[in-house]
Amino acid sequence: MTYNQTVNKTLRALTLIILLFINNSSFANNGYKVWLQYNHINDDNLRQNYTSQLQSLQLYGNSKTINVIENELNIALKSLLNINLDKNSDKRGLIIGTISTLNSNILSKLKKEEKQLKKDGFIIKQIEVNNKKQIVITAKTKIGVLYGTFNFLRQLQMHQPLENINIVNSPKVDVRMLNHWDNLDRTVERGYSGFSIWDWHRLPDYLDTRYTDYARANASIGINGTALTNVNSDALILTPHYIKKVKALADLFRPYGIKVYLTARFSAPIELGNLETADPLDKKVAQWWKDKTSEIYKEIPDFGGFLVKANSEGQPGPQNYGRNHVDGANMLADAVKPFKGIVMWRAFVYSEHNPEDRAKQAYSEFVPYDGKFRDNVLIQVKNGAIDFQPREPFHPMFGAMPKTNLMMEFQITQEYMGQGTHLVYQPKLFEEVLEADTYREGKGSTVAKVIDGSLHNKKITGIAGVANIGTDINWTGHHFLQANWYGFGRMAWNPHLKSSDIAEEWIRMTFSNQDDFVKPIKKMMLSSRETVVNYMTPYGLHHIMATGHHYGPGPWVGNLSRPEWNPVYYHKADEIGIGFNRSKTGSNATSQYAPQVEKMYNNVKTTPERDLLWFHHVPWDYKLKNGESLWNGLALKYQAGVEEVKEMKSTWASLKKYVDPQRFKEISMMLDIQLQEAKWWRDSCLLYFQQFSQEPLPTTIKKPTKTLEHFQSLRFPFAPGN
Ligand code: GCU
Repeated sequence: MTYNQTVNKTLRALTLIILLFINNSSFANNGYKVWLQYNHINDDNLRQNYTSQLQSLQLYGNSKTINVIENELNIALKSLLNINLDKNSDKRGLIIGTISTLNSNILSKLKKEEKQLKKDGFIIKQIEVNNKKQIVITAKTKIGVLYGTFNFLRQLQMHQPLENINIVNSPKVDVRMLNHWDNLDRTVERGYSGFSIWDWHRLPDYLDTRYTDYARANASIGINGTALTNVNSDALILTPHYIKKVKALADLFRPYGIKVYLTARFSAPIELGNLETADPLDKKVAQWWKDKTSEIYKEIPDFGGFLVKANSEGQPGPQNYGRNHVDGANMLADAVKPFKGIVMWRAFVYSEHNPEDRAKQAYSEFVPYDGKFRDNVLIQVKNGAIDFQPREPFHPMFGAMPKTNLMMEFQITQEYMGQGTHLVYQPKLFEEVLEADTYREGKGSTVAKVIDGSLHNKKITGIAGVANIGTDINWTGHHFLQANWYGFGRMAWNPHLKSSDIAEEWIRMTFSNQDDFVKPIKKMMLSSRETVVNYMTPYGLHHIMATGHHYGPGPWVGNLSRPEWNPVYYHKADEIGIGFNRSKTGSNATSQYAPQVEKMYNNVKTTPERDLLWFHHVPWDYKLKNGESLWNGLALKYQAGVEEVKEMKSTWASLKKYVDPQRFKEISMMLDIQLQEAKWWRDSCLLYFQQFSQEPLPTTIKKPTKTLEHFQSLRFPFAPGN
């Protein structure tokens, strides 16, 4: 061996040792890399198998997106396999480019797959070129190629075989976006992971690397839009000073296929334009919005459009001028139409002046307008009729407006589910809603089919998720809550995906591929949503949290000025029983569903027990399916929730050896908080409801050590997110 050879060999060995060290679970990991960990593959056989198939890279086309693809491959393959792809060889490897850049020989081998491609969908296929096996990643669009690349890297991260790989995958929903409830002062409404990642003061000149990493993470799961600002919006974002800053972000996000959207304050023509009115039928107002829109598109030619919260919780809107939602939404839609923009008009409306059950108000207000909105308007509907509770039956508007584009709004940030400290895997909730059958076009008319547009043959479809991202180093505060961002993106791409498959992907990419770790963690994640329901709002209880910050329990609150802001309005506990009668003998909210669903919910016996108290006021001694009285059943659910958190803690503790020390410890501390708070929910709710039931607690439940007065006296003036 020559001197040089010896030096090379030593250097190679050293690099390997460093890489092993970096990927070794004993090394600290702050979670910044989310699911793009690209953990080194230690299994020699697998690594060699991959390496033998990945020797070269033929990259076609010239664009910023192609650069992003190359960069991502470099980062990933160096880390996973410690290799660099050779760009100047035709050895076995990757052929990457849009369909229009590939030669006819290659294309002839992708004919069948090409026919299945839709929108930004992609193909990953092993083919033979000149007697050599190659893996082609292609799509009609460059963003599709980027999605294909990320999917390919996911296969490697999950240790899947590459031989004969053949994947064709297209998004089922057009607009897959995050809604940031971020304010211009960097506070985040209902944000629990620090402050807003948008550093408005330093923009547009200072571009934080976080912006690029944000874009990478989102592109890796197919998210293609981001509304940067809070729905309770500030008109300032529409001034030239801020538009420049928005442009800087849009320019950064463009190669990743992410469009920016802004929230539009309906009264902006008055606040910024000095007009006397914001009446949508006033010509000057409409012209102001047209001019404003052109100004934005001049800077940002692919600007996505506006997201609007109007006439809801004090926000201005067309009703201030005697007009309606159609007038308001269509006026904005006309302004963005020439630029192919869209308007997402939220259906989250309810009024203190309306005595109707709050759960009915959005449907009553919007459904009569079916067919009246422009074709570039999407009505954005929360998953349930109240407000992102731990469990709500699906919103009755889904399926009820066949001539209108309806999009879904989920809340990824956990305003009502333990905020930033409770481990709750939300794709389970998303799945429950998406799988629900609206029966609008007969059996099988699921919410997922409304959202993907297939039920009513829609040309434009969308899903939004209220982001849980902030300045915390790991983005989401709690490491496990990254799974909700990930899972949201995956379900936005395909609302028919299974939450269990998504959990498995996430665990393998984020932590480890070892089955002894994956299995118990997956089980823990999949049951975590039911656990939070158990210790907060079992059997269909809802909206019993504390006031303002919504942190912790507050079922006793009954003194707020707006009746429908009071928890007592929702649980209606009295000496007879508990629950909101929404059946035909009550508020008749059930009548807003299709007849089959209405019939099921009208009858206390056919209402699924998980939704019992959402639809019925039920006597304390009502016999549940398990034979327990309602009072006992409720108490046992609260107790089960606490027991389940204890189980989560012991599962986590038993898996220490699989996790790096930093994430292990941080998650352990979060689980401690979750257990304390689960007990807090259990004890305070049971003590409060016991005043009405006048029944003892089942003997298996430990007597609360604190009094109801103690719980009622707790104050948290600086709880985050308020
Ligand atoms: C909830 C939340 C508000 C938010 C509102 C909305 O009511 O508490 O902070 O503004 O939803 O979705 O508009």
